[in-house]
Amino acid sequence: MAANIESVLHETRVFPPSPEFVKQANVSGMAAYKALCDEAERDPDGFWGRLAKEHLHWSKPFTNVLDESNAPFFKWFSDGELNASYNCLDRHLETQPDKIAIIFEADDGTVTKITYRELHQRVCHLANALRAHGVKQGDRVLIYMPMSIEVVQAMQACARIGATHSVVFGGFSAKSLQERIVDAGATEVITADGQLRGGREIPLKPVVDEAFAMGGCEKVRNVIVYRRTGSKVPMQAPRDKWLHDVVKGQPDTCEPAWVNAEHPLYILYTSGSTGKPKGVQHATGGYLLSAILTMKWVFDNKPTDIFWCTADVGWVTGHTYIVYGPLACGTTVVMFEGVPTYPDAGRFWKMIQDHKVNVFYTAPTAIRSLIKAGGDLPKKYDLSSLRILGTVGEPINPEAWMWYHTTVGRERCPIVDTWWQTETGSILITPLPGAIPTKPGSATLPLPGIAADIVDETGKSVGRGKGGLLVIKRPWPSMIRTIWGDPERFKKTYYPDDFKGEYYLAGDGASMDEEGYFRIVGRIDDVLNVSGHRLGTMEVESALVANSKLVAEAAVVGRPDDLTGEAIVAFVVPKGARPEGDDAKKMAQELRDWVGKEIGPIAKPKDIRFGDNLPKTRSGKIMRRLLRSIARGEEITQDVSTLENPAILEQLKQSR
Ligand code: PRX
Repeated sequence: MAANIESVLHETRVFPPSPEFVKQANVSGMAAYKALCDEAERDPDGFWGRLAKEHLHWSKPFTNVLDESNAPFFKWFSDGELNASYNCLDRHLETQPDKIAIIFEADDGTVTKITYRELHQRVCHLANALRAHGVKQGDRVLIYMPMSIEVVQAMQACARIGATHSVVFGGFSAKSLQERIVDAGATEVITADGQLRGGREIPLKPVVDEAFAMGGCEKVRNVIVYRRTGSKVPMQAPRDKWLHDVVKGQPDTCEPAWVNAEHPLYILYTSGSTGKPKGVQHATGGYLLSAILTMKWVFDNKPTDIFWCTADVGWVTGHTYIVYGPLACGTTVVMFEGVPTYPDAGRFWKMIQDHKVNVFYTAPTAIRSLIKAGGDLPKKYDLSSLRILGTVGEPINPEAWMWYHTTVGRERCPIVDTWWQTETGSILITPLPGAIPTKPGSATLPLPGIAADIVDETGKSVGRGKGGLLVIKRPWPSMIRTIWGDPERFKKTYYPDDFKGEYYLAGDGASMDEEGYFRIVGRIDDVLNVSGHRLGTMEVESALVANSKLVAEAAVVGRPDDLTGEAIVAFVVPKGARPEGDDAKKMAQELRDWVGKEIGPIAKPKDIRFGDNLPKTRSGKIMRRLLRSIARGEEITQDVSTLENPAILEQLKQSR
């Protein structure tokens, strides 16, 4: 990543939006952007209160906008009541019932379209079925499903009855799934027999069974299974039920549960700097408001738009920009089951052409891998429907940005490089496409109402031209409310005493150029970003040392990678003799597969190096910064005089 930061810092190219784009934009020109910022600055409560009234349907209006009495456990619109599913579906039944809500393209290219009316009905069927199972408001439902219309149905059905969903990405292992079922205290699981990706079938229900076999899932009363692949999967009566059976005969309507604005809409697990993932808890009202506003501001949402976010619903991007934001705006969304390189690396471009996609939102990793797989491929397709391009999840290197701009956007489409996190719930720093001139590699400026700043360790603003810690100085509606079951960890992680508990600490390093543009550099904690996926080094270490047959000790660090942004490097002290040559290769493969089973394939280390020991201080602390240098192949220039065992550095360097 160091190389990227270098080139970003020297970036001088500026791309102002075209006058035609500005003319039609929801936020048209810098003056309009600044007017919104000023309004938010002058009267934050008035600003957010006005927008929440304009953009959401409240069954009981709120009178209180922001409640700071129990900071940092902020509450938004806390005496109001609403329902997320009503806001996403029922609102559109009078005005546009026959509009397509979802265009779903399966791995094999089969396209299914569903209207708002049909989606509403299917959500009601499942919501009624869940109620019949005894699922009540506040109960947790764990969803482990492929990209499908059914996963949207499942999430919306939970929201409809006030159940809190927790979606687990389909690539996570049985162990990860089991931990999340237990931590969330789920009483219901919704899954599928399997999923199809790149022509391959990947089982899901068997993974759920494996998770149950690990114990601790006794609270789960029902497992609902969507039949996707048709493969034979074991069904255990009476616990396991087919989705098509449970919805049979259910009424087409279902009275929504009107919940308090602060009611937990969902929990989504993400990695932090300990071995235990944290359940990020989001509320209903504030979350939905920010999801809608960012659709309108950042993606310039228009009634005729076809919107495609390529993220998986298992991540926050899929929650906010497939399931909640677009549907609450009554947009047509594209959903894709497969992978960008199947049947070939033109798949994304063909889908943009076929579905006449207007707004396309993807990850820098996908862009980099598609450049590698066929940088000229987009030229073969008609991409003239595109009007906005977006990126998310990791810093985008200016080379990839320029390719996206010229080859995909044909120099016509503004690129919105959107910075946000699972915890922030929605985009916070990004160019507004019809207002803010873009610079490759910069997320540019904070959205109206977002008090982003860069500070030093004492909390003092570093000012323009400098780097430091990214903080948000005022609460915002879609912010994390707490870590599920661990309010202390929430406080310590995000509102640390270092800043008197006043600022939200994002965990990212950033710098600001002379014009106040933000450049997000990367994590400052022990969290890695591999292909836009967040992984804690401690999680991977815990997984490795859990293999007590092979591993005595392990330390995990990141190194820059051209394709995946960062790659995982593990230093392992084996239980027995240190393997060499083919034995080392074999053991490395065994450990990679082990991590895949413990966490999921995304967490498999790219390099595994074996040593007789790890570099430690005399007090026994592993010196990770030295490991980082070794992983990067850098000269070690740091002071190693405090090292207990300096000779180990040479051995680890040779261990490639
Ligand atoms: O390090 C930042 C990086 O991704 C982290 C958040 O990861 P996650 O919670 O998984 O959410 C990803 C999707 C919202 C951040 O702390 N990140 C996200 N967007 C950007 C980014 N880094 C640089 N530029 C971005 N646009």
